[in-house]
Amino acid sequence: MNHLKLLGLTSALVLTGLTVWAQTDDPFADIVETRHGLMMQMAADVGKMGAMVKGEVPYDAAIAAKAAANVAAVASVISMDQFPAGSEVGKSADSFAKADIWAAQDDFLTKIADLNTAAEALKAAAGTDADSLKAGIMGLGKACGACHTTYRQSEG
Ligand code: HEC
Repeated sequence: MNHLKLLGLTSALVLTGLTVWAQTDDPFADIVETRHGLMMQMAADVGKMGAMVKGEVPYDAAIAAKAAANVAAVASVISMDQFPAGSEVGKSADSFAKADIWAAQDDFLTKIADLNTAAEALKAAAGTDADSLKAGIMGLGKACGACHTTYRQSEG
């Protein structure tokens, strides 16, 4: 293939990419997917620890400690960066974020901080024993729930 042809092919691909971008018409699609991914990762690790707390699987200090460390790491990533103004339910496909997030941003930020506090406490406790894991998970669950109650539109 000569260089001219290669150049033509490249611009065709670039144009196709631009067309696809223009057609989606949802500037928040990627960031909504990103925050869903962060939430789903936390939920997966919470699920592992929850199964131990419920007695569905035996307590395993190493698995619990790793899952708790994961939640703390993911929680530390969450910020307004994944919640740009305008990405609320009804304005961006797949978003279930309530507009109150931006109307009461200080409170939303407090809830992110509370999540990190609870996740760090869980991280410190999860590998100790089953009772410590349980106490830590209860605290974390409260932090998740407090934010969802106020700022997440229920899907049902
Ligand atoms: C500071 C607020 C806040 C905290 C704390 C928080 N969430 Fe969320 N979460 C949200 C919002 C807002 C949405 C809706 C986002 C959207 O649809 O764009 C959401 C959505 C979700 C979803 C649905 C994701 C999807 O793909 O639809 C899951 C699962 C979830 N959160 C799990 C958790 C877990 C587990 C925790 C605690 C470890 C947690 N969240 C803590 C605000 C929070």
